[in-house]
Amino acid sequence: MTGGPGSVPVPATILIDQVGLPHVPVLATLHAQCFQLGWTEASFVQSMAQPNVVAWLALLEPDREPVGFMVVRVVEDEAEILTLGVLRSHRRRGIARQLLAQATARASSASAVALFLEVAEGNEPARGLYRKAGFHAVGRRANYYPSPDGSSEAAIVMRRDLRA
Ligand SMILES: CC(C)(COP(=O)(O)OP(=O)(O)OC[C@H]1O[C@@H](n2cnc3c(N)ncnc32)[C@H](O)[C@@H]1OP(=O)(O)O)[C@@H](O)C(=O)NCCC(=O)NCCS
Repeated sequence: MTGGPGSVPVPATILIDQVGLPHVPVLATLHAQCFQLGWTEASFVQSMAQPNVVAWLALLEPDREPVGFMVVRVVEDEAEILTLGVLRSHRRRGIARQLLAQATARASSASAVALFLEVAEGNEPARGLYRKAGFHAVGRRANYYPSPDGSSEAAIVMRRDLRA
């Protein structure tokens, strides 16, 4: 996890570092701590094997402890945040905001004009994060997220315009 061309230093003690397939185990571990139904390592491999998919870790200095992650896909002029999370113990410190800034920078540099994501309807922390970052709701998908108890929750599709 060296600071290479994909690395962006951010304020305080966090580094946002682009990572690849060797980091799948840590990505899956973080994901499982952030979501009830975590992506498996196989899910990450399948996703990251695509040439238009990029993953980042948020690393806490000085030891580069992984505390957050994000996966983004860019397809032609649209980009999509596939997953994003920050460990509970490190929330409300602006780490997700910094990950979103990285997503926006990458999407813009790939000439994307819009950034999309899906968020569970009842996930108020994430919806608050995205609203504050300039996203607005453009759709709703009923029964989108299965829950471990067999129920399901709707997804809200959000979009941020990247032009101008
Ligand atoms: C949603 C999540 C990624 C936010 O990460 P974070 O690093 O704590 O977010 P930030 O500190 O960058 O917060 C940025 C802004 O988002 C909003 N926000 C974040 N957490 C919030 C909460 N619990 N309640 C209300 N607003 C919240 C606030 O506007 C916040 O700005 P502020 O702290 O200046 O008020 C984190 O809570 C998480 O990992 N949740 C579980 C996984 C998840 O839901 N991922 C998103 C799926 S789409």
